[in-house]
Amino acid sequence: MLTYEVLTAFFLEAGFLGVMLFGWNKVGPGLHFFSTCMVALGTIISTFWILASNSWMQTPQGYEIVNGQVVPVDWFAVIFNPSFPYRLLHMSVAAFLSSALFIGASAAWHLLRGNNTRAIRAMFSMALWMTLIVAPLQALIGDMHGLNTLKHQPAKIAAIEGHWENPPGEPTPLLLFGWPDMEQERTHYGLAIPALGSLILTHSLDKQVPALKEFAKEDRPNSTIVFWSFRIMAGLGMLMILLGICALWLRYRQRLYTSRAFLRFALWMGPSGLIAILAGWVTTEVGRQPWVVYGLQRTADAVSAHGDLHMSISLLAFFVVYSAVFGVGYSYMIRLIRKGPQDEMPIPPTSGTPARPLSAAVLDSQHEAHR
Ligand code: HEM
Repeated sequence: MLTYEVLTAFFLEAGFLGVMLFGWNKVGPGLHFFSTCMVALGTIISTFWILASNSWMQTPQGYEIVNGQVVPVDWFAVIFNPSFPYRLLHMSVAAFLSSALFIGASAAWHLLRGNNTRAIRAMFSMALWMTLIVAPLQALIGDMHGLNTLKHQPAKIAAIEGHWENPPGEPTPLLLFGWPDMEQERTHYGLAIPALGSLILTHSLDKQVPALKEFAKEDRPNSTIVFWSFRIMAGLGMLMILLGICALWLRYRQRLYTSRAFLRFALWMGPSGLIAILAGWVTTEVGRQPWVVYGLQRTADAVSAHGDLHMSISLLAFFVVYSAVFGVGYSYMIRLIRKGPQDEMPIPPTSGTPARPLSAAVLDSQHEAHR
């Protein structure tokens, strides 16, 4: 599946990325926009194959074991495995949402510094419309994703909930906070809302959610990690929804571009999408343990026989190469953000009569010319 990714997406993305990043003023605006769309399309195709592959490792199907090897017998079932549609939607929406938050934060930074141009306002406005629509949608998809996980990986959900046992006849509470202790098999300092776990995960007030003690000790994922990574992701998701609602309110009050407290809120939310994505993946991958392919192969059995020296050298190589690639990438992005949209004039003060009768019209026509 990763080979399909390289063949169908990687070259498309990589080729047009060059035109998109370095082609400003070198190719026409039509070709530049086309290249940007091709990069987006390539990225979505990449997402499709990578998540099909990852999801198969979470919820494998469509295979047979022949002489101890996993052999695909039904490619359609392999690709469209049970967790794939949810993961594809959740991750794609996460990417759009994170981009919107990042773009919104860049615009907020400019507005806070007094760079008040039409392009920057448009950037801010579009980013916040996107957040308003997409953040609640993400919570809804996340909820459905969780129900699918409950069906196929119940131990992961029990670990996310920090839920150890089911006293007979008692519905499952929802722990807002707490500290799951894998040794003592309990969650310390739990702040619980009675029956809410049952309501969210089984849509009933009496059914119970599977508990960690129902699984053998060696089959339990680390609850301390996934309990918190999940809450970081979902908590940031709630803040994103709040950001979208505040933006709508300020738009209505005509203070969207001028409320400094809100501009600071939007600025601080800039990295929240990326942090939520990382927290989401930690939940998904730590929650899959102790399996590398769920129920089929343990992570311990997938470790190849390399010595300390080999491992240290490859880890160091990853560290050096990633630091260089990400370092260059980030510094380029920060340069682009600092520069901001270039071809715009500052918006003239709107209130009052222009000093000279024609100056407002002249400024307006200059705007049009620049656009
Ligand atoms: C607001 C409520 C949210 C809920 C209820 C939710 C639910 C979930 C669940 C249950 C998983 C684990 C699924 C599994 O491993 O089987 C997950 C993973 C993930 N989440 Fe969320 N999520 C929420 C918000 C967000 C936000 C705001 C982002 C990012 C902007 C995000 C990004 C991710 C990513 C990247 C993963 C890992 C990939 C995947 O398994 O889909 N989530 N989420």
